[in-house]
Amino acid sequence: MALHEPRVFVTRRIPDRALRLLQAHADTRVWPDPLPPIPDALRHECARADGLFCLLTDHVDAALLDAAPRLKVISTMSVGYDHIEVDACRARNLLLGYTPGVLDDATADLAFALLMATARRIAEADRYVRAGEWRTWSPDLLTGAEVHDATLGLIGFGRIGQAVARRAVGFGMRVGYASRAPRPEVAEPLGAEYLPLEALLRRSDFVSLHVPLTPETSPLIGARELAWMKPTARLINTSRGPVVDPGALTNALAEGRIAGAGLDVFETEPLPMDSPLLRLPNVTLLPHIGSATVATREKMARMAAENLVAGLRGQPLPHPIP
Ligand code: NAP
Ligand code: GLV
Repeated sequence: MALHEPRVFVTRRIPDRALRLLQAHADTRVWPDPLPPIPDALRHECARADGLFCLLTDHVDAALLDAAPRLKVISTMSVGYDHIEVDACRARNLLLGYTPGVLDDATADLAFALLMATARRIAEADRYVRAGEWRTWSPDLLTGAEVHDATLGLIGFGRIGQAVARRAVGFGMRVGYASRAPRPEVAEPLGAEYLPLEALLRRSDFVSLHVPLTPETSPLIGARELAWMKPTARLINTSRGPVVDPGALTNALAEGRIAGAGLDVFETEPLPMDSPLLRLPNVTLLPHIGSATVATREKMARMAAENLVAGLRGQPLPHPIP
């Protein structure tokens, strides 16, 4: 039995139901600003905290852990956990939670929206209408690429990659995937073919990335891999920015070595306003909104709160980081 009411620090405002759950179990302080706490502020806020509810914008490193001697549990409201130095946390016996599964469909929808947007030049067409350039219907106005009958190459065939595959099948696409190991039990019902990375990139009309950011995937797609892609192909990235070499991608897009890209994630977020990507018409840019539906964010917050409460009570987390 704890001698004091546990203290929790939450690094941003979160949906009400999740917040109420935390408040029912702990003295809960919420960072009030719309921007994340800078590292100094985060260390200060965690100095007396037993639990930390964080987001993917909060870097959890050894310096933070050293400044937070009472911390028992860290729960991130995200499925990606590359912002957490897991080894440093494990060395201190901290419990770690994340939010797998509840955001698969929302994120897959967004990846597919980017695929459709790059194929049919949606953002470009919207800019065209707003700029008053629309004079008439014409046979070659803003013509794009077909989605049905096209080949989609998925890199990473876990929860979200598989959800994208299900959508692609509904759109009449052929689906291939590259992963560290074949997954015949899920691939076969979808008709998805396992291919080595090079063959997948050479064959695909659309390539969509669904790997976590790890030392092995940072970057997974560089100049060599982009050169394997067809000049008519489009790259979709809803995984993490550093999975793609940003300089190599900008060059490939600017020189027309690939036809387009749809990007939700970037090496530096927010995307700096001097990024050359902002000047390229064949790129659709989104501000890391893969899981951003009201319902999904509520589920993620709830799941992260449940993880945190379990950890504070000394119970196993329902969704521990593996
Ligand atoms: P997941 O279920 O763990 O799937 C990841 C897949 O990547 C697994 O199949 C894994 O294969 C594979 N993989 C790992 N390293 C690889 C490598 N070096 N080469 C090829 N494949 C590799 O994860 P998820 O839930 O689908 O999420 C994937 C990522 O999406 C998250 O980590 C996060 O970064 C990102 N994400 C972004 C948004 C957004 O808002 N844009 C939203 C949600 C998630 P093994 O089975 O061999 O490990
Ligand atoms: C979003 O990017 C997540 O990892 O949940």
